Amino acid sequence: MNITGIHSLIYGCEDLEPAKRFLSDVGMDSEDGETFGLADGTSIVLRRADDNELPSAPVAGDTVREIIWRVDSEDTLKEIGDELSNDRLVTETADGVIHVLDDLGYALGFKVAETNPIEFTAPVTNTIGDRKRFNTRADGTEVKVPKLQRTAHIGCWAPGDVDENKAFYVDRLGFRETDYIKDIGVFLRAPGSSEHHDIFLSKRGDRAGFQHVAYEVRDFDEVMFLGSHLEAQGWETHFGPGRHIFGSNIFWYFWNPAGGLLEITADLDCIDDDWEMRYHDSLPKGAGTWLARPVDQQRIPFRTREQDQIIE
Ligand SMILES: [Fe+2]
Repeated sequence: MNITGIHSLIYGCEDLEPAKRFLSDVGMDSEDGETFGLADGTSIVLRRADDNELPSAPVAGDTVREIIWRVDSEDTLKEIGDELSNDRLVTETADGVIHVLDDLGYALGFKVAETNPIEFTAPVTNTIGDRKRFNTRADGTEVKVPKLQRTAHIGCWAPGDVDENKAFYVDRLGFRETDYIKDIGVFLRAPGSSEHHDIFLSKRGDRAGFQHVAYEVRDFDEVMFLGSHLEAQGWETHFGPGRHIFGSNIFWYFWNPAGGLLEITADLDCIDDDWEMRYHDSLPKGAGTWLARPVDQQRIPFRTREQDQIIE
């Protein structure tokens, strides 16, 4: 069963205009004002929250209403449909997407799709004793506003027992655990993916709802360029920039007016079945090995927007 990654997120929004502006500012293109695409062929779809064709979500308000996963073949699609129809309703729409609810109440879709290849060359850098960039200025000296390039992963709030919550993805869909933090959550890699995680099931208190989506840019400089640009446009940082412990990626999280958070990311761990999954009894050292802003040292990341306002 080869699920290869996230294909599309369908948001239901109370107010579409700020969401459209935000997606335009992160470099997503749209021809119809509803579907916003990235270079890799993945997308975000913005619909009105009261659109009664949308599935319901575990929480009200601006949020993701359906998570569409990409699969490699019709055989995989059939396999998923057969497996999940054992204990839940599976429907198929004319566009070839099959739809189900996971055990937490998130609406999932599965669709046969490929991504467009994107090939960047990593910038040449100098370090002590290893000078590769000679007679050339660093790539990051050229000011630019990068675009988000590809969908990396998502995080969903998962109240209740971590093991029970992971079971649907691991036992029914073949996801692999890559890092597990007792009582905090589990990072899961889709069976046909080489990312450290495609979904993070995140437990804190009894929260439910869509937490974040991460989009990848070329490198560290691009995370900083785009994050700085978004702040200059008036968009609000939640947390970052910094470097994560789990997945190793550079991150910068913004409040997404469409719902939840949007993470700009780069330099993620790429893994296969030789990866050694680790079980952690507690969160090793917060959310980042380094955090650029002193305020983030006191913050618990992924709090609610209301909690952010109380502390600030
Ligand atoms: Fe993330």
